[in-house]
Amino acid sequence: MMVCIMARPKKNAPRPAPGPLAESVARLSRMLTRERDDLPAAYLKDKGNREAYLGYFLPANLPKVHLPLRELSLHPGNLFARDRLRVLDLGSGPGTALLGVRDHFVQQDRRPVLEFTAVDQVEENLRAAKSLFGELEDDDRGRSVLRTVMSPIESAGQHLVGQFDIVILSNVLNELFRSDKDRIGKRTTFLGLTLDRLLADAGSCIIIEPALQETSRDLLGVRDGLVDAGFGVYSPCLVQGRCPALANPRDWCHEDRPWDPPAQVREIDRRIGLRKDALKFSYLVLRKDGRSLADVCGPDAFRVVSEPLVSKGKRELYLCGREGRRRAMRLDKDAAPGNRPFDQLLRGDVVRCEGMAVEERLFRITKGTQVLPLLAFRERPQEDNPLP
Ligand SMILES: C[S@@+](CC[C@H](N)C(=O)[O-])C[C@H]1O[C@@H](n2cnc3c(N)ncnc32)[C@H](O)[C@@H]1O
Repeated sequence: MMVCIMARPKKNAPRPAPGPLAESVARLSRMLTRERDDLPAAYLKDKGNREAYLGYFLPANLPKVHLPLRELSLHPGNLFARDRLRVLDLGSGPGTALLGVRDHFVQQDRRPVLEFTAVDQVEENLRAAKSLFGELEDDDRGRSVLRTVMSPIESAGQHLVGQFDIVILSNVLNELFRSDKDRIGKRTTFLGLTLDRLLADAGSCIIIEPALQETSRDLLGVRDGLVDAGFGVYSPCLVQGRCPALANPRDWCHEDRPWDPPAQVREIDRRIGLRKDALKFSYLVLRKDGRSLADVCGPDAFRVVSEPLVSKGKRELYLCGREGRRRAMRLDKDAAPGNRPFDQLLRGDVVRCEGMAVEERLFRITKGTQVLPLLAFRERPQEDNPLP
C-alpha cells in the first residue's frame, strides 16, 4: 500500500504572493467583519467583491443551511413530505442557500420538486445565481426551477404571489437597518410582517447569520421579539421563553462545525492567512404552528451551547434548556459508566441528563446521573461515538 503524505508548509515559511482573487477575498473579509459599519449597500456590485464571494464565501456558506434542514427533517410530522416545495431566499446573493437546499434534497430518497425564488437588490448576483443553477440543469432532470426577482427585500412581497414552505434569510438580516439605533426593533417588525404575508402556516423560516458576537446577539434580540409576537422557535432552542444568553452581555449562541474546505478555499487561506476550516454561524428556525425540535427530543432535553471546558479535576460545558442556560459540571471523581457520554458532548449536541442535581447556578453531573445523548450532527471518531 502506498502512503501519501502531504507536505505541510513549514511554520515560518514565507507565504506565496496572494494574487488578485486572494487579495479580493482579504479585502471583502475585512469589509464584512472589522469594517462592517461602513459596508456599502450594494457591495456585491463590485466585480472583485463578487468574484471573492463566489470563490471563497459561497462554498463556506452553502452547507450551513444543511443543519437546520436536517433538524426539520427529523420531525415526526414529516414536514417536507410534499410533492412540491416553494422556497424563497431573501437576500439570495448568488443563490448560496438555495444551492444548499438543493444539495440537501438531492440526497433524500424522496425528492420534491423545488420551486426556488431568489430575491436580491443586486442584478449581478441574480445573474450569477441563474448561471450556477444553469450549470446544474443536466443532472437535475427538471427537479428544481429558479425564478429571480430584483428588489429590496423590504418590498419583496409586492412581487410575489402566494406563500412559501421555506423562507430563508442567509447572512442578510445583519445588513438591514444597520445604522439604525432601533435596528433590532426594525428587523423584528420587518420579519414579522414579511413572514405573516409570505410564510405558509406549516412553513419554516430559516435565518442564518455570521457567528460574530454582535450579529449573533442581535439575532437573539429579534428571536425574542418574534416569540413575543407569537412565532414559535423550531430550533436551535428547545424552549420558547426569552433567550437566557441575552442576560449576560458577553454571551452569545453560535455553531462551530468542523468542515473540510475545498482546495481553492484552502489555497486562498494559505496565501492571506485566514482560516476557514470550520462552519461558524448562528441560526434560527421559526414556525407559525408551534412545532419544534422539542417534539423530537422531549421537553427535558438540553442543547450544548459551549465547547467543553476541561480543567484540573473537572469537565464543564454550558447547557441550555427548560431550567435556563447553566454550566454543567462533572468532577473527575464522579465519572461513572452512566455519565461517560458527558466526555464526548460537543457544542450543538442535544442531550438528556437524568438525575443531575440542579443547583442555583450549576447543573451537577453526579455519579448517579444518566447522560443520554439524543442528537449529534458532528462527525466523531467511530470507536468513541455513543451518539446516533
Ligand atoms: C452577505 S450576502 C449573502 C448572500 C447569500 N444569502 C449567502 O448567504 O451567501 C448579502 C446579500 O443580501 C443582499 N441584500 C442586502 N440588503 C438587501 C436588501 N435590503 N434588499 C435586497 N437584497 C439585499 C446583498 O445584495 C447580498 O447579495
